[in-house]
Amino acid sequence: MNDYFSTAIHYINGNPHMGHLYENLLADILARYSRQQEKDVFLLTGTDEHGIKNYRKSQELGVSIKDFCDEKASFYLNLAKKLNMSQDDFIRTSDKIRHFPSPQKIWEKLEKKGDIYKKNYEAYYCVGCERFLKDSELNDKGECPVHLKKLEKVKEENYFFRLSKYNDLIKEKIITNELRIIPDFRKNEVLSWLDEGLLDVSFSRPRGVLPWGVPVSNDPDHTMYVWCDALSNYISALDYAGNSEKYQKYWVNAKKAHIIGKDISRFHACIWIGMLLSAEIPLPNIILVHGFLLAERGVKMSKSLGNVKDPFLEIEKYGDDALRTYLFSQISVGNDLEYSEKRLVELTNSILANSLGNFINRVYVLGKKNNIKISSKDLDQKELDNFLSAVDLMWDELDFYMQDFKITEAFQVIIKTINFANKKMDEWKPWLLAKDNPEKMKRVFPLFYYLARQLAYSLEAFLPTLFIKMSKILNLNPKLTLKEKQDFLFADWKDLGEKEVLFTRLELNN
Ligand code: MSP
Repeated sequence: MNDYFSTAIHYINGNPHMGHLYENLLADILARYSRQQEKDVFLLTGTDEHGIKNYRKSQELGVSIKDFCDEKASFYLNLAKKLNMSQDDFIRTSDKIRHFPSPQKIWEKLEKKGDIYKKNYEAYYCVGCERFLKDSELNDKGECPVHLKKLEKVKEENYFFRLSKYNDLIKEKIITNELRIIPDFRKNEVLSWLDEGLLDVSFSRPRGVLPWGVPVSNDPDHTMYVWCDALSNYISALDYAGNSEKYQKYWVNAKKAHIIGKDISRFHACIWIGMLLSAEIPLPNIILVHGFLLAERGVKMSKSLGNVKDPFLEIEKYGDDALRTYLFSQISVGNDLEYSEKRLVELTNSILANSLGNFINRVYVLGKKNNIKISSKDLDQKELDNFLSAVDLMWDELDFYMQDFKITEAFQVIIKTINFANKKMDEWKPWLLAKDNPEKMKRVFPLFYYLARQLAYSLEAFLPTLFIKMSKILNLNPKLTLKEKQDFLFADWKDLGEKEVLFTRLELNN
C-alpha cells in the first residue's frame, strides 16, 4: 500500500506564520517515517490563492493578481525548503493547467448526481473566513466573531451543494473508523455537528463579485466557492481530471492522511467528505487535526499584539533540529502549544546537547582513543541481551505510536532510549574500564556503538539534519533497508567517521 500525506494549502494573503511551519513539520515527519518503512510515499503541500481577499489586496497594491500570487506563493515554497521539508509536490490553486480541470470535473460529477442546485440566497459573508455566516453566528454588534468586522448582508443567486443528503453517510464512515479523525476529541466534535445536522452549502458566487477563482463548469457567470476549489487540490495535484497513473497510485490505491489545523476540520470532515461521496471518489483514511501554536500565556499570535513570531527568523536563530525537537516533544499533537523561546532553548539544550550530544561524543571519543573496533564477536552476553531488548522495545513502541500518528509519544520513546544509553554509560564508566580492565572494555564498548547507531536511525524521520550529522560521525550508510538498519550485525559498518559537534548549545536570542 502506498502512503499519501497532505498539509492544508495555505492562504497567501499574509506571510507564512508559525502555524504553517508547525503543520509542515508534522506532515514531513509522518512522510519521512513512512519512507523509512519502505512505503512509496507522496507528500503534498501548496497554496490556496483564490478568493476576494487576495483579489482586493492586489488591487490595493496596484499589481496584477498573478504577480501578487507568484510572489506570495514563493514565500511558502521557501518556508518548506528552509525547513528541509520533503514534499513531493507543491500545488497552487491558481494553476489553470494543473489545478482547474479537477474541481471542474468534480463539479460535473456532483451536478450529474443531482447534488447541485440554484437558489436565491441572503446571508452575511465574511471575507476573512471566506464563508457565509448565519444570523445566529454574529456577535451582538452584528460582527463576525473571529474577525470583529461588521458584515453586510449579501443577496445573490448561488449554486448550492446538497451536503445535507450525505449527513448520515458521513457519520457512519466516521463512527466505523473508515474515516479516522485523530484525536478522539476532534472526532467527537465532528460527530456533534453531524448530530445537529449539516445544511446545504453555497457553492458558487457570481463572477462579478468574485472574478478570481475557478469558473463553474458550464456556467462561466459563476465562480466556484473557494473551499470547493481549495479542497480539490488534494487530488488535482495527482491529476484526478486526467485519471492519471499518479492519481491511481497515490489516491485510489493509497492510505491517505490529511494533516490540518483545528479551525478547518468542519470543511474537511464534512464538506470534503460529502463532495467525495457524491462524486464517488475514494475517501481519505485519516484526518489528523492539530492544535494551534499560541503566544505565551495562551494568547493568540496577532500582529496588533506584537507577539507574532516569524518562522524564517526562528529557523535562522535556532535551526530546524531545535525547532522540531521543541515542537514535537512538548505537547501531544491535537493540543495547543504556547510557543516559548526560553522553553525551546532549555529543552533542546537538555535533549540534543546534554543527553544525546554527550552520549554520541563519549562514544566517538572513547572509541577512537581506545581503538575499540566495531565488532559483534565476544561481546558480554548479559549486557548484549539488555541492549538488544532495549532497542527492540524502542522500535516496537515507536511503530506503535507512529501508526496512530502519535508523534510526540513516539519521540518520547527515543528520548527514553537516549536516557537508557546514558545510564549504561554511567554504569560501565568506560573511561575507567579502559584503564582497569581493557579486555572487558573490548567486550562491552561495541554495544555503545550499536546503541548510537540505532538512535541515529530512530531519529532519521524526526530530525533529518541531525541524522545526517550522526551518519557522518558514526560513518553510517543511510541507504540501508529498514531491516538492515535494525539488524544487530555490523556487516557494512567498518569504522567511526569524522569528528563533529552534533549540536551546538543554544543561547536565548530574542
Ligand atoms: N486555505 C485554507 C485551507 C484550505 S485546505 C484545502 C486555510 N489556510 S490558512 O493559511 O489559514 O491555514 C493553513 C493551515 O494552518 C490550517 O490547517 C490552519 O489550521 C493552520 N494554522 C493557522 N494558524 C495556526 C496556528 N496559529 N497554529 C497552528 N496551525 C495554524 O485555512
